[in-house]
Amino acid sequence: MNTLISRFTIPKDRFSGAVLVTGASGCIGAWVVASLTASGVEVIASDLSVDRRRASLVMGADAAADVIWECCDVTDFDSVHALAKKHDLQAIIHLAGLQVPFCAANPALGARVNVEGTINVLQTARELGLKRVVYASSVAAHGLPPGGDFSETLYGVYKVANEHSAFVYWKDWQVPSVGLRPNVVYGLGRDQGMSSKNTAAIEAAVSGTSFDIPYRGNYSWLYAGEAAAAFIAAVSQDGTGAPVFDLNGSCETIEAGLEILKQLAPQAEISCSGGEFPFPADLDDGPLRAYLPDYPSISVEEGITATYTALSATDATD
Ligand SMILES: NC(=O)c1ccc[n+]([C@@H]2O[C@H](COP(=O)([O-])OP(=O)(O)OC[C@H]3O[C@@H](n4cnc5c(N)ncnc54)[C@H](O)[C@@H]3O)[C@@H](O)[C@H]2O)c1
Repeated sequence: MNTLISRFTIPKDRFSGAVLVTGASGCIGAWVVASLTASGVEVIASDLSVDRRRASLVMGADAAADVIWECCDVTDFDSVHALAKKHDLQAIIHLAGLQVPFCAANPALGARVNVEGTINVLQTARELGLKRVVYASSVAAHGLPPGGDFSETLYGVYKVANEHSAFVYWKDWQVPSVGLRPNVVYGLGRDQGMSSKNTAAIEAAVSGTSFDIPYRGNYSWLYAGEAAAAFIAAVSQDGTGAPVFDLNGSCETIEAGLEILKQLAPQAEISCSGGEFPFPADLDDGPLRAYLPDYPSISVEEGITATYTALSATDATD
């Protein structure tokens, strides 16, 4: 299966210890776990439950079954701390979180997972003296402060709180971290959240069902493997400070993405409607690329083709 995973490996010698991945059962988590494993870097996957479904999609069921997987609720500090201590970690890639619709549906839980969970990770790093921590902020942070050009969401509020918390952890206790603000991630395993509709369109093209993407115009296309590679690169060196970076991937219109898809599946009944996505589509990855060791860039055509091909292979074996 061609997921392009070999493009996202990193030299193993950039790490001398294990990497803990929170939210490993999610989309970006699956790609991070797959890429670290393919690189030969020791990885400890963790999530609320042992759910290898998305990891299996990306790396195959056999390889996913071999990954060390631990249950850990990030809202429980003792659990996060004990897990980190148990495995003698060098780095944490903190991805556990609830996306926009889930925060809107349960704001208090959203705050506990997204804000308190990140505090628990930062506090664990502080107590264990970890120098390599990256956490997922989001493009939704651009909706704040209120009254700007982009949509304000509770989710965005929580992500901004994380960025400010990370700043204070550095200022007061010299806990270094990197905050990455992914834009719209697409690819295998992207099956939930308000911005998952372009991936859903690719799935619909594979299964032969009709689908309408409820947005038009410019869109960020951040291939999940590229996002994972950026998170991994961010912990491949000791940090200093608490910088925050946009992680945009390619900017391309939804219409252009559908054209690529129609080349692959001429019979597909895929359309788009509505207005532009309520977040910026063309943020600059330059500052992140200047800060990090090199990580790959995947064109929209490559990413859509790889996703379509991989999903077609999965569909054929169902
Ligand atoms: N996918 C995107 O386009 C995108 C864009 C911007 C930011 N992000 C952020 O990146 C991170 C990963 O995104 P994703 O697309 O993989 O999300 P996802 O929803 O696929 O996965 C999130 C994971 O977090 C886990 N989780 C939820 N509550 C938890 C808890 N209390 N303890 C431990 N784990 C818990 C879930 O079980 C899930 O596996 C999230 O923080 C998300 O907000 C994603």
